[in-house]
Amino acid sequence: MDLLLDTADLAEVEHALQYYPIKGVTTNPTMLSRLEQTHVLSHLKAIRALIGDERDLHVQLMARDRETMIREAHHLATQLGEQTFIAVPVTEVGLSVIKQLAQEGLNITASTVFSTIQGILAMLSGARYVAVFYDRMLNLDIDAGRVIKELAGLLWTNTSSTQVLAASFRNVAEVTNAYASGAGSCTVRPELLSTGLAMPSIKKAVQDFADDWKKVYGDKTLLE
Ligand code: E4P
Repeated sequence: MDLLLDTADLAEVEHALQYYPIKGVTTNPTMLSRLEQTHVLSHLKAIRALIGDERDLHVQLMARDRETMIREAHHLATQLGEQTFIAVPVTEVGLSVIKQLAQEGLNITASTVFSTIQGILAMLSGARYVAVFYDRMLNLDIDAGRVIKELAGLLWTNTSSTQVLAASFRNVAEVTNAYASGAGSCTVRPELLSTGLAMPSIKKAVQDFADDWKKVYGDKTLLE
């Protein structure tokens, strides 16, 4: 089970790396369209420099025709390293691109998945991750938990190495439900991670322990 960070913001990546068990970073064209600098590849290289070569970096293709998508994918993989995951929307063209790139040894994330059939086709085409857009599905009255359960079950039954990567979250409950439904990984906005740890009851419990300790041992720690 893994956690990824869903942001292209360098400061957010740097902060999260200090505190959370981050396996990688996912980006999308909307995030990259909001960058101050317009040389996207330089920004993606800056993310790669922050996360190191071992963590995943997911980047969605922006070309529209098959040939250019293939070229774009190889360019990204060459520029951003082996742990780069090429995100490809699961459409007809996308499936043909996923299949070819997977055969050529690139890591593929099948993106914009809203249904079980999309996930099945992506798995059969060679995707390493199937990115299920959880909150967007709920907004369409699609049972995202059921789709994740079905895909996770099929992956298990077929001993597939492909993982469900649940994405698109607006609250902590959606994240925990996605994991509980069988998602092997979730990619989460930084603010949701800090929200999950912001419960006043956490802070009070820690303070109560400290107060009880201080009454007897003052500022001593267990080093003494
Ligand atoms: C997934 O990889 C995307 O970055 C993102 O999670 C898409 O969902 P959202 O735009 O609804 O948050």
